[in-house]
Amino acid sequence: MDIADQLRQLDADADRLISVAGSLDAVEQLRVKYLGKKGALTAILRSLKDLTADHKRDIGAQANQLKERIEALIGRRRDDLSLAGRQADAVDFTLPGRPCHYGHRHLITLVMDQIIDIFQRMGFEVVSGPDIETDYYNFGALNFPPDHPARDEQDTFYVEGERLLRTHTSPVQIREFERRTPPVKIIAPGRVFRHEAINTRSHCVFHQIEGFYVDTDVTFADLKGVLEAFVYELFGPGVAMRYRPSFFPFTEPSAEVDIRCILCGGAGCPLCKHEGWLEILGCGMIDPTVFRNVNYDSEKVSGYAFGIGIDRMAMLRYRVNDIRLLYENDIRFIRQFR
Ligand code: DAH
Repeated sequence: MDIADQLRQLDADADRLISVAGSLDAVEQLRVKYLGKKGALTAILRSLKDLTADHKRDIGAQANQLKERIEALIGRRRDDLSLAGRQADAVDFTLPGRPCHYGHRHLITLVMDQIIDIFQRMGFEVVSGPDIETDYYNFGALNFPPDHPARDEQDTFYVEGERLLRTHTSPVQIREFERRTPPVKIIAPGRVFRHEAINTRSHCVFHQIEGFYVDTDVTFADLKGVLEAFVYELFGPGVAMRYRPSFFPFTEPSAEVDIRCILCGGAGCPLCKHEGWLEILGCGMIDPTVFRNVNYDSEKVSGYAFGIGIDRMAMLRYRVNDIRLLYENDIRFIRQFR
């Protein structure tokens, strides 16, 4: 092997070995191996004196370049290793662990999950519908007449054309009836929107759970049984309930349900506005017109529906006196409900 070959070989070796040397000691050994007094490159440099003048200039230049390259490689590897060493030293295993902040469900989600759980145990399936609805699903199919005040822009957020932000979860009834045949037993939780002034009691965004059951021979008594079970689960057994006759375009008969004020027990207080009762939901037997709109035979099937305001349930259960607190996301407020 002539000297030029030896240099090429050394170059390749040094490059490979130095770049993977695992410690400062290993780097030092490689330095001695190539550049030490008895090193391979040192030997070559020393042998240059035996060459002819031409050769000496050529090979000499190559050998000196290689020496510089190897020195640079060694320097870089030393830097890398000592940096890694410093970083390893920097880990202080005696330090206490960094606290990790766990998130948790928002109060609304918490109460929504509680309510969903109660109805799931009574055999209701959970579905969801779109926040953006059409006039037909939100109003028309639910038997709202064309000039019904709820359709007014004062009450409804219109998106464009026929599209609007749903004002209640009742349109999910229509969507599910259209794609199923009875029996249908469903709850549909979700967000609803109304063009309303924001104050302590109302907000432009809030939440509802729609429930509906259609089968042969479903009666108002079935509805009362389910709602009673729900109220007893959420507010404790034996809470007094009352049904007030009411009106909704999609149910007949319709009712609103009150419970005895959970704060004053009926004596009268600011929460119940001195009525002794708190309204918690609307309900009724599904109107035959709704069944006709979804091609159900109202001679053969019957059903009930109800709609519960989740925000109101959350406020009652956790004694929150301003609905805006549920939407401001002040962490000091939210943290109180886990
Ligand atoms: N959709 C009604 C509302 O937002 C609530 C409601 C009342 C839903 C009666 C129902 C029902 O399913 O039967 O005011």
